[in-house]
Amino acid sequence: MNHSKFFTEGKLGPLLLRNRSIRAAAFEGMGDGHTVTEALINYHTGVAKGGVGMTTVAYASISKSGLAFPHQLWLRDEIVGDLKKLTATVHAEGAAISVQIGHCGNMANGALTGVRPIAPSTGINWYGPTFPRGMNREDIEIVKNDFKNAVRIAAESGFDAVEVHAGHGYLISQFLSPFTNKRKDNYGGSFENRKRFMVEMLSAVREVLPAHMALIVKMNCWDGFESGITKEEGIKTAQEIAQCGADAIVVSGGFVSRAPMFVMRGKMPINIMAHFIRQSWKKIFVKLVGKQLVPSVRFTEGFFMEEAEKIQQKINIPVILVGGMNSMKTIKTAMERGFEWIAIARALIENPNFVNDLQNEVIEKSGCTICNYCVAKIYSDSMTCHLHENNLPENLKQKVAALNHE
Ligand SMILES: Cc1cc2nc3c(=O)[nH]c(=O)nc-3n(C[C@H](O)[C@H](O)[C@H](O)COP(=O)(O)O)c2cc1C
Repeated sequence: MNHSKFFTEGKLGPLLLRNRSIRAAAFEGMGDGHTVTEALINYHTGVAKGGVGMTTVAYASISKSGLAFPHQLWLRDEIVGDLKKLTATVHAEGAAISVQIGHCGNMANGALTGVRPIAPSTGINWYGPTFPRGMNREDIEIVKNDFKNAVRIAAESGFDAVEVHAGHGYLISQFLSPFTNKRKDNYGGSFENRKRFMVEMLSAVREVLPAHMALIVKMNCWDGFESGITKEEGIKTAQEIAQCGADAIVVSGGFVSRAPMFVMRGKMPINIMAHFIRQSWKKIFVKLVGKQLVPSVRFTEGFFMEEAEKIQQKINIPVILVGGMNSMKTIKTAMERGFEWIAIARALIENPNFVNDLQNEVIEKSGCTICNYCVAKIYSDSMTCHLHENNLPENLKQKVAALNHE
């Protein structure tokens, strides 16, 4: 039995978690019709059984206008009953459960939402591709109320925490980043102005969040490319988040429409991604320009540790460390360097029992090969790791077999 501090209970804001592990928000693709499916419940219950302190339901939209995928959750009154089932089954396994809330902004899918995507500024987003409309004051108020409403729904549904997504190039991050924020009013220009939208949204969330729930914010330490937010601005972002009353910050980085692989590192298997895309025009688009739009970024274990440490030194709330925390050795190093909380995505996709297996010394490291097959499957309704897929069609089998030789 491993006796690392990682396996001991700890307080995260108002929550007492059984250990220091958090299943990072990683899009499950199991919210068919924007609802809670049996698959979503089974997935998170499995992760809870596997020993995590808290699991996070990913990428739930605060409104219809914020949706990017047909199989993405949308927090609304109709699904509270099913969300309650989800939180209850996870609780029954001894884990806490958080929900990540956000708005996709310029990444929203007009075919789904029925409206033109909104963003800080009007323009073109090549990654969609989408043609967002710059938000006016009224839009900002609507989004603020949608954040409040999402928190109310999360609370009624029995979640222990909400994680506001302020990173990765979604709406809040689009306001923070000079790459997407070209506004001339008091929401654009200087960092003081670009941070205003985030501060207003977080203040609204804090205002309605019940005291027994934790407020977590996921943010970028930097956007991962020259014209995005800088590392200095990343530190300032964390300080602002702490001032808004967050209980913890997940320090990440990357920007879906400009530096997507900076989020998780490694190489995107473009052919496999194209395989799962249903619209034929998008399939062709991805095959043609996917490699240019999604360049590879080298993976190393603990890849945000250095930047996260700099941020931790400047704030007095805990940083949740995410990014390649795939072995006991790297987790131990992080705990020794003062991190209290570790979030894990791909190692838990490969093995939902990862935390228990580490504690019971069944394994010392994850079997994840960082092939990013699970990321390429974002357009499908499952996130099964390629090592555990059964019954793959022949043409996909070959592509998957090739992954490990690339
Ligand atoms: C399949 C997949 C889906 C993801 N979806 C999300 C998401 O919805 N929201 C988010 O904040 N991060 C998302 N991420 C990023 C992870 O939360 C995490 O920050 C990143 O993968 C690095 O952690 P890891 O090395 O443990 O995988 C996703 C990652 C993967 C692999």
